[in-house]
Amino acid sequence: MPHDQAALLTSDAEAHLVGIARRVLPGGTFGSMASDLVIREGKAGHVWDVSGNRYVDFLLGSGPMIVGHAHPEVVAAVTAQVARGSTFFTNNAAGIELAERIVEAVPCAEKVRFCSTGSEATFFAMRVARAFKKRDKILKFEGGYHGNNDYAHMSTVPNRFVNFPNATMDTAGIPKVLENEILVAPFNDPAAAVAIIEEHRHDLAGVICEPMQRLIPPRAGFLKAVRDVTAKHEIPLIFDEIVTGFRLAYGGAQDYYGVVPDIAAFGKIVGGGYPLGAIAGRADIMAHFDKSSAGDAYAAQTGTLNGNPVAAVAGLATLEILRRKGSYEHLFAIGHQLRMALSGALEKSGVPATVVGEPPLFDVIFAKGDMIDYRASARGDAGLLKRFNAGLLARGILKADNKIYVSIAHTEADVAEAERAFEDVAKSLG
Ligand SMILES: Cc1ncc(COP(=O)(O)O)c(C=O)c1O
Repeated sequence: MPHDQAALLTSDAEAHLVGIARRVLPGGTFGSMASDLVIREGKAGHVWDVSGNRYVDFLLGSGPMIVGHAHPEVVAAVTAQVARGSTFFTNNAAGIELAERIVEAVPCAEKVRFCSTGSEATFFAMRVARAFKKRDKILKFEGGYHGNNDYAHMSTVPNRFVNFPNATMDTAGIPKVLENEILVAPFNDPAAAVAIIEEHRHDLAGVICEPMQRLIPPRAGFLKAVRDVTAKHEIPLIFDEIVTGFRLAYGGAQDYYGVVPDIAAFGKIVGGGYPLGAIAGRADIMAHFDKSSAGDAYAAQTGTLNGNPVAAVAGLATLEILRRKGSYEHLFAIGHQLRMALSGALEKSGVPATVVGEPPLFDVIFAKGDMIDYRASARGDAGLLKRFNAGLLARGILKADNKIYVSIAHTEADVAEAERAFEDVAKSLG
């Protein structure tokens, strides 16, 4: 039952599970969402918790479930594959076919390699760029998130602003020496980014960026300026398309924004809700992943589950659904309606807020202003956002801490339900 009609219930079964989780998991969680919610199942644009409460799901498994949960075609493909075996370590037909689909869809993709997560995909994308250039340093943008590998988790949520291009580690446990291997530039500032890349052009192995950084779209000309300067100095440009791939367009952000990198990293949608990531890029760069590469040119890229056939058939079924006429039109139309509902509710409430993103994913930042980079977005009131998210959850609207993901399974009824919740909760924040 939707929560705008009934109070949230917590069953003994859910309370029991939460108790066990708090006993056996650090912080009581898998590391992501809060520990007091245990999801039992999902279908299309909704999920149910163990207590039976239904939520309109704008978390979508943190993004992969763009065709909705348990889509019948994905379930059928996975079920058929599971009955034939789950993993072989050799090439398999589904993985080969998925690689071919990626090459067809993604402008920069001449060759593809698989891994199991987005964090691995960015890790290997940076490794292959280093192997190609025979250099170590990678430049990223402040506020950009590229997953949990040690090279990526720098200056994503810096707790102090250091001078560009110095990096600061986001987490304990990263070897201090790696800070020197990463340079950082401000997002959406073409002059500063170009100047830093020019200055360090002899040391850089690659430049990595989220083409839409978190929820901040690139300003006109920014990606092109980065593309032009990296092309001029033959420095591989890596787009982290783990969020944007197959979401902003079938060909990803590089298609949507019209700027083509040399390498792209994929995760989330491409595995259809199963563990699969991919690195795709120029043939001459990706050739370093070939074991027959001469001497020290070979960049190792193996993994027990790489190209896993269960994940590959889920990815293939998902891409097949997305390719159909009307899929992206519906995604953008529903996303646009939902975004309007959110902006309208916030405006009515009078709470200072800005909605940022693109129709398939966006969220509110509780501050007014032009959200062009991390430092601007960091001015958002985190306490208000937490209250907003908690209020929505209590009304049956599930979202990520700082993202609203939309699926093609969401309907106008879901938007109407969310709109009522946005209005109620926004009003209560004032
Ligand atoms: C832009 C971006 N890159 C990389 C990652 C890491 O992917 P994964 O969580 O699959 O390791 C994420 C995850 O949310 C992401 O949003």
